[in-house]
Amino acid sequence: MSLKNNSSDSDADRENLWPPEARWLHAGIAAGVTIQLFSSLWMTPDWQHADYASFTQLLFSFHAWVGLTTALFLLWQWLWIATSAPVRRQFFPFMGPWHPIFNDLRLLLRGQLQAPGPASGLAALLHGLGLLLVSWMALTGTVIFFFLPQGGTPPGALLQNLIPLHKALSNLVWAYWIGHVGMFAVHLLRRDRILDIFRLGS
Ligand code: HEM
Ligand code: HEM
Repeated sequence: MSLKNNSSDSDADRENLWPPEARWLHAGIAAGVTIQLFSSLWMTPDWQHADYASFTQLLFSFHAWVGLTTALFLLWQWLWIATSAPVRRQFFPFMGPWHPIFNDLRLLLRGQLQAPGPASGLAALLHGLGLLLVSWMALTGTVIFFFLPQGGTPPGALLQNLIPLHKALSNLVWAYWIGHVGMFAVHLLRRDRILDIFRLGS
């Protein structure tokens, strides 16, 4: 696969492709959701004996607090989307323009990758869908938080109904994460300017 507009990350003087707001938002959301996915593999929410005596029980407490923090980053992301028309068009091009997406698809069919950056296109559309997906996790998780049993009481019926809603899309989040990190690796191998999004200082 070849790249359009390939350029090197070693060029230190050039401007970062992403505005600082996008970089901080990505740092919070990407780190938060990644921690949530991996903590969910080993945590045990033990409602009957919530004494946090084991590592896996502590991990559940960690999942809850990191989840709430990630929800705040997502709230910030949605406020940005709501107040900036260009950012809205980039992630959710429902009113168009559609040609950058078709153009990216045409490139892909020819075995080429679009150069990265915060612009409209296939990647941005998938990022928008990813944001919707993780926002569902954050929303359902936050509601769960308020109905967690206190003082070792058994979980109520409402909580029992909320948990399947939270779990329903978790495999899709894994699929998004694997695809997203996979594309990151492909761009990195091509020495594309992909690391800019992680540079928080400059
Ligand atoms: C599931 C967790 C993650 C979510 C929800 C997520 C979400 C996003 C979003 C919304 C963007 C677009 C940012 C913008 O243009 O303003 C983006 C871009 C990017 N993400 Fe993530 N991210 C996640 C995890 C990761 C991880 C773990 C890595 C790397 C190891 C990563 C690497 C990147 C890179 C390199 C870009 C720039 C791609 C481009 O625009 O061409 N992300 N991500
Ligand atoms: C961005 C935020 C969050 C993400 C991405 C996330 C992700 C996940 C994932 C992937 C699972 C595993 C689902 C499965 O086993 O199929 C899970 C389970 C769970 N999460 Fe979250 N979560 C988030 C926030 C929260 C919050 C704030 C809470 C509040 C306490 C929470 C409570 C739970 C509970 C109770 C389970 C079920 C555990 C079980 O029954 O084994 N989550 N979460």
